[in-house]
Amino acid sequence: MNVADHVFHRAEHRPIAVRAHGSTIVTADGRSILDGAAGAIACSIGHGHPAVIAAMAEQAATVSYVHAHSFETKALSAFATHVASVAPIDEARVFPVSGGSEANESAIKLARAYHVARGDHERHVILARQGSYHGNSRGALDASHRTALTAAYEPWLGQTARVPLANPYRDSRSGEEHAAEIDRVIRDVGPSRVAAFIAEPISGATLAAVVPPDDYWPAVTEVLRRHGVLLIMDEVMTGFGRTGRWFGSDHWGVRPDMITSAKGVSSGYWPLGLCIATGAIYDTVTEAGTFSHGFTWSHHPVGAAVGDAVLRVIERDDLVARSALLGDVTIARLRSELGDHPNVGEVRGRGLMIGVEFVADRATKAPFGAEVEVAVRVTDAALAHDLTVYTCSSVVDGAVGDAVLLGPPLNTSEDELDEMVTRLVAAIHDVLPA
Ligand SMILES: Cc1ncc(COP(=O)(O)O)c(C=O)c1O
Repeated sequence: MNVADHVFHRAEHRPIAVRAHGSTIVTADGRSILDGAAGAIACSIGHGHPAVIAAMAEQAATVSYVHAHSFETKALSAFATHVASVAPIDEARVFPVSGGSEANESAIKLARAYHVARGDHERHVILARQGSYHGNSRGALDASHRTALTAAYEPWLGQTARVPLANPYRDSRSGEEHAAEIDRVIRDVGPSRVAAFIAEPISGATLAAVVPPDDYWPAVTEVLRRHGVLLIMDEVMTGFGRTGRWFGSDHWGVRPDMITSAKGVSSGYWPLGLCIATGAIYDTVTEAGTFSHGFTWSHHPVGAAVGDAVLRVIERDDLVARSALLGDVTIARLRSELGDHPNVGEVRGRGLMIGVEFVADRATKAPFGAEVEVAVRVTDAALAHDLTVYTCSSVVDGAVGDAVLLGPPLNTSEDELDEMVTRLVAAIHDVLPA
């Protein structure tokens, strides 16, 4: 009998995890699985870290929970100051929630609240890219563009205006050309109606680490500023060192109006997400009234203590620089091992967010049909080799296209990383014999 008979499973017949430490998950049947996916590209400092466990226990014993309407906590104040010191946001204000979807819901609502506070009542349209993923709650899902997740809920969706994704592997347009297209869509919708543009700086969950052309973000930012459209940078996956800089935005010196984050900020020790807004947005909204938004668990003191402890480990162990360094080495090794494989279209990424895209035909870049389930099969084959990787099943257009992401904890040892690459290459050859 399955021990979890009453669980509403997300997937059936998965191994039972009984212990996890560093980059290894031990299962009930005695396997030691290397966590090449860091959970869901989330466990930034690995499993079982004593510094985080101690901080969590201490905060739980001191003030485990108070409602944010009634009390401040020292834990949150310290954590927010810490986040503000690394986030590329002017005079940052941190609104902590329980995950990435909630962070994006919060940012979308805050964008609207900001415009309303300024008397700009028409601005409500959210602009997002094709092939994006911003979460599974209704507002965040509407901003997302991934058929498998949205199809059943279409009657509730459809408020978001869509612009093309920027994928240099499949699209030769420059950043300037993309910015011109965004400018055109804003003019079509009506510049006075557009509230915000939400996008990942480097596309992770859906597109497997697609890095836009170098002139993309500077050009896009200029267009948004010109039209008074806020930039919400979704750094749920890319934030806190994952791409070899503190934030993905830092690769291009972009200072967004808001950054959303989750995953790596708590490394999985607490369900934590952040909506980080500029001081100007905070002042505008709070001077006009209050931001009518919040959750029972937002501003949680234990979550804040966990986040702060994780940031201290990232700083102490210099994990942002380590992510950049190990990422370069790993991408180079994967390219040399898979460079001639007829079904590997591209190895790409920044830092320890590394994507491998599979194609049916390298010359035409034609993807496999969705029914072949190549990404799922490679993920399963990797698990058979005792390695987790992250599945990306819609990398071409939000509907088809296969890739996997390798995104281990940032403090994975070099030997472990070597072994992960060996196992991933073996899994790819199992599914796609060269
Ligand atoms: C870029 C991005 N945004 C938002 C989300 C949603 O975050 P969560 O699953 O914590 O709600 C994800 C999750 O994969 C993500 O990768």
